[in-house]
Amino acid sequence: MTKVIWVTGASSGFGMAVAMKLLKDTDHIICVSARRTHLLEVLARQGAKVYPLDITKTAEIERVRRAIEKEYGPIDAVLVNAGFGVYGPIEEVPEEAIRRQFEVNVFGAVETVRAVLPSMRREKRGRIVLTSSSAAHVSSAGMGYYAATKHSIKAIGTALRQEVGHLGIDVVMIEPGVVKTAFGQVALDENYMASKSPDYRAQMRDLKDFMLKAFDRAPDLDHTRDVMIKALLEESVNPIYRTTKGSFFLGFLSRVFPTRIYDVIVKQAIGRLH
Ligand SMILES: NC(=O)c1ccc[n+]([C@@H]2O[C@H](COP(=O)([O-])OP(=O)(O)OC[C@H]3O[C@@H](n4cnc5c(N)ncnc54)[C@H](OP(=O)(O)O)[C@@H]3O)[C@@H](O)[C@H]2O)c1
Repeated sequence: MTKVIWVTGASSGFGMAVAMKLLKDTDHIICVSARRTHLLEVLARQGAKVYPLDITKTAEIERVRRAIEKEYGPIDAVLVNAGFGVYGPIEEVPEEAIRRQFEVNVFGAVETVRAVLPSMRREKRGRIVLTSSSAAHVSSAGMGYYAATKHSIKAIGTALRQEVGHLGIDVVMIEPGVVKTAFGQVALDENYMASKSPDYRAQMRDLKDFMLKAFDRAPDLDHTRDVMIKALLEESVNPIYRTTKGSFFLGFLSRVFPTRIYDVIVKQAIGRLH
């Protein structure tokens, strides 16, 4: 059966890779969204249906959902993937940046989910795949706001899974650790907040060096892409997929060690490994 699949955040990274592989390997109808539509042209050439979207605009999300369903019928599966990272000390990240972080990663994701739910409930089937993160379970200095958005996605995704499971709708959360995409560039180059205060400066510099190395050594996105595709298409799926060793390890550390010891381990690792 030909499925209608909607991928948000498709102009780069995971979203682009998932859409491209689906276009090459399947006959499903692939609808793609992002703000930078010129980057979606490569997908359009492979047959993707392009829907420009700023995920922070609820009315735009609804307009895209309606346009897809009018043209191709009910959406069978959605990869709720658009997102980015704001790094910096809790005290110093500007309010506007904090709000934007939540607008994209939480409200954008929630409104996408709410847009597709009515027709999925009507059809008594559907697949909602949320791009979460290992940061859904752990937080660390300089990453508090990004981690807060992914903790939120975990809480919302968990509730949603329980609310809609009996309606034939599966909710799947994908939890990668650090993976090579444009995410690191965006988080560290565009959004990294060099600290104004000497009280935070060394810590933030250590974090930036650590993350640069981590992104440099990170696995490429193929495995996470394939798990996302499996989550979108396979008959039977798990509620959560952790797609990198790092995502297992961080979750394990936070569960096994008492909080204060966990804090010391993470701080020392970041201080030493850069
Ligand atoms: N790479 C990692 O290490 C990693 C690890 C765990 C989780 N994740 C998560 O994976 C998801 C995808 O990120 P990625 O790693 O593939 O990074 P990426 O290459 O930077 O891609 C991010 C995508 O999100 C879209 N996006 C950002 N702001 C948007 C907005 N306001 N409206 C619409 N789209 C927007 C971007 O499109 P436009 O800018 O064109 O709009 C882009 O297509 C994110 O949710 C991220 O938190 C990444």
